Amino acid sequence: MQQSWNSDRRRTAIGRASLSVPARQALADRQLDAGRTILDYGCGRGGDVVSLQRLACNITGWDPYFSSSSSVAPSDVVLLTYVLNVIEDPVERRQTLKEAWRLAGSVLIVSARLTWDRSKVSGQEYGDGLLTSRQTFQHLFSPNELRAYVEEVTGTRCITAAPGIVYAFKDDSARLDYLAHRIVPDANWLASADTASAIASLVDYVERRGRPPRVDEMPRPMAVQLAHLKPGELKRLVHDSVDAERVSAGAKRTTLNTLLFLAVELFNGRGPFSSLPLGLQLDVRSFFTSYKEACQRSDRLLLKLRDDAYVRGAMNASCVGKITPTALYVHRRAVDRMPAVLRLYEHCASIVAGRPQAWTIAKLKHQGRAVGWLDYPEFNKDPHPRITTSYVADLKSLETSHMSYANSANRPLLHRKHEFLAPDDPDVPRYRRLTESELRAGLYENPHLIGTEDGWEAELIRCGRMLRGHRLVRRHEA
Ligand SMILES: C[S@@+](CC[C@H](N)C(=O)[O-])C[C@H]1O[C@@H](n2cnc3c(N)ncnc32)[C@H](O)[C@@H]1O
Repeated sequence: MQQSWNSDRRRTAIGRASLSVPARQALADRQLDAGRTILDYGCGRGGDVVSLQRLACNITGWDPYFSSSSSVAPSDVVLLTYVLNVIEDPVERRQTLKEAWRLAGSVLIVSARLTWDRSKVSGQEYGDGLLTSRQTFQHLFSPNELRAYVEEVTGTRCITAAPGIVYAFKDDSARLDYLAHRIVPDANWLASADTASAIASLVDYVERRGRPPRVDEMPRPMAVQLAHLKPGELKRLVHDSVDAERVSAGAKRTTLNTLLFLAVELFNGRGPFSSLPLGLQLDVRSFFTSYKEACQRSDRLLLKLRDDAYVRGAMNASCVGKITPTALYVHRRAVDRMPAVLRLYEHCASIVAGRPQAWTIAKLKHQGRAVGWLDYPEFNKDPHPRITTSYVADLKSLETSHMSYANSANRPLLHRKHEFLAPDDPDVPRYRRLTESELRAGLYENPHLIGTEDGWEAELIRCGRMLRGHRLVRRHEA
C-alpha cells in the first residue's frame, strides 16, 4: 500500500520509550483491561504494543509499513493512534477510520494531533494539511472537529476522553458505563477479610451511597464471606450499625449524582433505562418514583444551565471556589463539591472538548458558557503557583483554545490559594494564614500589580518581605 502514498508516512512513526498519551488515557479509563483483545491499528514501530504487552494486555499491532505481514483480526478495542493526521488523501483517511471502526468489537479509541501543535509543524500547504520538508503530511484537528468527524464516519455518539482523544463505543451500554464511571467514580469498597470486616465494608457502602447494594454489586469475595447470613439477618445487622444521618447525606449525594448523570446523558444522547449501568438503575429505583421522574428532574437541571441568573446564583451560593467578575475558579480537589448545575456545566464541556490530563483549576465563566482547565503543577508546593497551560472550551461555539506559558517570562500567578479549595480541605488553614500575613504586610494594596510574577516580586520588595515556603518573612531576616 505504501507505494501509492503521496507522503513519506513511515517517517511519522517515532520510537516510543514509554506509553503514548492516548494509551495511558485508555488505561486510566479502564478500557484496556486484561480480559479484552486489543488491536493497535497503524501501530508504527510498535512501542505501545510492547509496553501494553508488558502490562499483560492481550494486544496485537498492525501497520501498513512496519508490520503489514501480521494479520488484522477484529478485536474488542481498537486503537487508532495518530494515524489520521498523516494520511494526505481524505478518501483514504475516511476509509481507514471506517475500517478501524469495523474491526472494533466494543470501543474504538481515535487520537490525533491537534491544531495547538501548529507552531511545531512547519511546511507547505498541501490538500487540507501541511507537507513538511521531510515529505511527511500532517492534518491537525481541532478537538471538536475530531469528535464530529469520528461521529460522522462511525455514525455513533462519541465522547472526548481528553483533548484529541475520542472514544466511539459500539453499544450504548458501554458508552453509558464509561460516562457513569467518569461522573460518579465507583466508590472503593473497604477490604474485607472476614465476616466482621465484610459487614463493616457494607455499612460504609450504605452510608456513602444511601442505599444497600445488590449482591451482584458487591466484590465477589465479599459476597462469598456474607453468603452464610440470611438476608433478613444481614439487613438487621447493617440497620443496627449505620449512622442514619450519614445514610441520608449519602442518599442526597447519590440523588444529585444520578440527576447529574442523567443530565449529562441527555446532553450526550439518552438511552433507555435498561442501558444504564446496574448501579445507576438501582439508584433511580431507590431515590426516584420512576425513571420518568428522574429524567424530568435532570432535564430541568440541563435547562437551568441556559439560565444566566440561575448559574450566577449557583456560583454565588457555591461553598467552594473563588468568584471573580467573569468566572468561578475551583480547585480540582473541590469540583465535586460545586452545586449540581455547575458540575453539569463542567462535565458537558469536558464531553465535548475533553478534560486535559494535567489541570489544577477549573474556570467556569458566568456569562456565555465556557470552561477553562488551568494547570498549576506546583500548586501544593508554591505559595503563589504559576500557570503553565490553559485549555478553554466554549460550549456555545464548541471552539477550543490552548495556551502554553512555558516560554513566558512573566507568568500569571495565584494568590489566596485557600479560596479555590473546599473549606474543610486540610491545606486551607496554612494557606489562609499566609494570605492573612500578606494582607497585614500591605501586599494586596495594589491588586492590579500583583497578578504576574514581576509585579508580585516588586510588591514583595516594596513591602520588605519575602517568602519561605508558606511563611512570609522580613527581607533582612533572610
Ligand atoms: C504517526 S505514526 C503513529 C504510529 C503509532 N500509532 C504510534 O502512535 O506510535 C502513523 C502511522 O500510521 C501508519 N499508516 C499510514 N497510513 C495508514 C493507513 N491507511 N492505515 C493504517 N495505518 C496507516 C503509518 O505507517 C505510521 O506508522
